[in-house]
Order: sequence, then C-alpha cells, then structure tokens
Amino acid sequence: MLGSVVHFGVQFIQRLRTYFTNGVTVEGQLAKLTLSKDDLIKQMKLITEDMNNGLAADEETRLKSSIAMLVTYVRNTPSGKESGDFLALDLGGTNFRVLLISIEQNHITMDSKVMPMSKDLMTSDAVTLFDYIAECICNFVKEKNVQDKVLPLGFTFSFPVKMLSLTSGVLVKWTKGFTASGVENKDVVVLLKEALLRKKEYMIEIVGLVNDTTGTLMSCAWEDQEVTIGLILGTGTNACYMERLENVAKWTGKIDEPKQVIINTEWGAFGDNGSLDWIRTEYDREVDANSLNPGNQIFEKMISGMYLGEIVRLVCVHLISKGLLFGGLCTEKIAKRENFLTKYVSDIESGQPERINKVLQELGYDEQKAEDVDRLKQICHVMSERAARLASAGLAAIVKKIGRSCCTIAVDGSLFKKHPKFKTYMESTLSELLPGNTIKLMLSEDGSGKGAALVAAVASQQQT
Ligand code: BGC
Repeated sequence: MLGSVVHFGVQFIQRLRTYFTNGVTVEGQLAKLTLSKDDLIKQMKLITEDMNNGLAADEETRLKSSIAMLVTYVRNTPSGKESGDFLALDLGGTNFRVLLISIEQNHITMDSKVMPMSKDLMTSDAVTLFDYIAECICNFVKEKNVQDKVLPLGFTFSFPVKMLSLTSGVLVKWTKGFTASGVENKDVVVLLKEALLRKKEYMIEIVGLVNDTTGTLMSCAWEDQEVTIGLILGTGTNACYMERLENVAKWTGKIDEPKQVIINTEWGAFGDNGSLDWIRTEYDREVDANSLNPGNQIFEKMISGMYLGEIVRLVCVHLISKGLLFGGLCTEKIAKRENFLTKYVSDIESGQPERINKVLQELGYDEQKAEDVDRLKQICHVMSERAARLASAGLAAIVKKIGRSCCTIAVDGSLFKKHPKFKTYMESTLSELLPGNTIKLMLSEDGSGKGAALVAAVASQQQT
C-alpha cells in the first residue's frame, strides 16, 4: 500500500515537472543528439555522393557537391630517402609556427617557435597579416643563425585553397574565425613572397604549399607506407586521401605514373547545401547563426574544437532554463557565448573529480550537486560521441571509396589529442560501420610542420 502511494507520488512529481518544462526532459533532448547506425549509414551515402560529384569533370555536377574535393598536386608519399634542411610555416588555427627541420635518413629533427595569432590579426587585412608572418620568419632565421643559407620553405596553410600547382594556390574562403580582407581569391604564396620582399628577405624559396591534412598524411606516411588518409580534428576538421587518377575526372594534368594524387576533401563544408539538415538541431543552427561565416562549414561546426564547447553550453543553458540542470540557476558565466571551452568538455569527460570541480567553479557554480555533475557528464559524453561518430562516418565513406579493407589513418589536431575518449569513440564507430576491416588511427606528431618539410623535400627532389 505504502509502496504504491510512493510510486504514485513520484509519478505525479515527474508529470508536474514535465508539465512545467513543456515536455522537455534531459533524456529527450539528449536522444535528439544521439546518432544511430542507420543515421550514420545515411550520412555515408550522402558524403559519398558529394565526393563523387566534387571530382566530376563538368562544373554543373561539381556544383551539386557541398565539398570542394581539391586536387593537391602531391602525388608521392615520402620514400624515406629525403634529406636536407627546410623551413616550414604552419598557419591555420589559434597559433602560428615557424619551424626549422632537418631530414636525414630515418631521422627528423625540429626546432620551432610558436607565435600567437591574435583575433586582431585574424580579422585584419592581407598586408597586415602577411607582414606579421614575414617578420616572424625573418626573426626566426636570425635567431637560428641560418639567415645566410638559401632555405626551401614548405607552407602549411590550413584553409580551403584551390591549388594551381604545388607552389601556388588561391584561398577559396576563410574558415575558423579568420576574415582578413584581401586574401580570398588571391594566391597566398604570392602574398607571402611579396611580404618577404618588403622585409628584404631574398634567401627563402617557397617550394610547397599544403593543407594540414596533406601534411599529416605525409608525415605519417614517412613512417608507415600503409597511410592513405589524413585527418584533422582540431580547431577545424578536414580529411584528405590518396585517390587514383582514373577517379579524378576533373584532373587536367598528364595521366602519368604514379597514377594517383592526394585529394583535400574540405569536408568541413559538408552540409552547406542543406544535406545535413535532417540531423542538425536547434543548437547547431544557433552556433552557425552566431558564427562569422553563417551557412558555411556546417559539418565542421558539428564536430570541431572551435564549436564543441559552445554546443555543450547551449544544451546546458536550454536545460537550465527548463529547471533541469543546476536547479535552474544560470550564472553570468555560463550565459555568455563561447564561455564553455572545448577544453572543459575534455575535463568533464576525463571523469576526474578535481578537473570537473574546477570547471564548475570557473563557470560560477560553487555548490555542486551529484545530480548536476552526472547530467553534465551525460551531456559532454553525448556531444563528444556525436562529433566522433560524424567524423568516423566520413572516414568510413572514404575507406569504402578507396576500397581498402586495411588502412592507416594519420590523425592530428588538439581535439583528438586532448580529449580523453575521442579516439575510443571513433574506433568503436569505425568497427560498427566497417566490420571486418582493419582501420588504424595513427597519431601524427606535429604533422603540419613535418609534413610541410617533407612536401618541400619531395618537391625539391623532383626539381633536381
Ligand atoms: C579548413 C581546412 C583545414 C581544417 C583543419 C578547416 O576549417 O577549411 O582547410 O584542413 O580546417 O585545420
């Protein structure tokens, strides 16, 4: 008797709560953000269509695709016989780096300097941005006492670039918060050369322009010949892979050996034509609407480090407004855009009480209830897993496209490196989608820098 009264009471309170929250429940909200295997199979089909259309010879078909499938002109992975001293530049996220890299057989040594990339520079103009880069290079070569040597330079520029050759390419569109004027539709190698000349720097010879995905693929392929895909999960996301020339209908060069070329998919833009609308949520739409490039990089905004924390914050704020989290208390800190760092998602997912407490304190929650901590853990888990599953479905589509049952994927980027569970989520999704295949995720140590030097090395060898 007492049992059924208690049961009735609990049910009554739950109903009352649902009534006041307009039917919103934590479970209901999180269910909308969870992707089933069927969802991922549908996503694979859609991205495969885009990949094929993006490689087509005729423009009309290419325009149907949301992803650019850019040809890189990088056609060889390193043989392991490369050698020499190279400079490398790495521009594409919150930092900018200059590196001095020595490649000897079986050994690469690197010396590098990281320079911050301020918001002011990111949103400035071509001359300001490239003058800053040129100045950093000049200071670096002086510091390392190599200013009198002619040094070949590999430039990793991690944005969508339509390559014209291995040493020239036009920026299609800025991403990841960059908006500097006068760079889009310009050859970024020319902009860099002009800036170096303004600094009277004549000893640097730019021999390769690469995307970070290509750099990552190259740096891991130097160690393991099985590497055929490069993946970035950092501030942004993207993947590249080695494609057979016969599948690249838009290839206009010679069909000579090696009959292959690396394709930079620019998959961050997947969904820009509306093809992902069936899985986008109100949170994704809000992140996009508040970004510097609304309507662009839809897939990237559902996955990468620049946006993951913000999506989690929006889910939290929504649940708080329904009284379902933190007792309905919305602190000033959590209410503010971009205040939930992606690093916090990793902290919460680590499960370590000290890291979790620190995050809650930074967000202004001094009193912490076990129930809230559990809910926050659930939210971070669901959002991280969603991102990992989306990226894995993209990879599974590439693996199927190249018809490999066994391959290694080179991965770089802060999200993948710092998130304690991202790799595990990806591995289990890949085996769910590609049962029986052997897919290895190989962490790239400093792929962008090393890869640019390796491309420079391969290119300088081709010239000799
Ligand atoms: C850019 C890609 C880049 C990726 C990862 C994206 O925003 O468009 O070119 O590879 O970020 O850095």
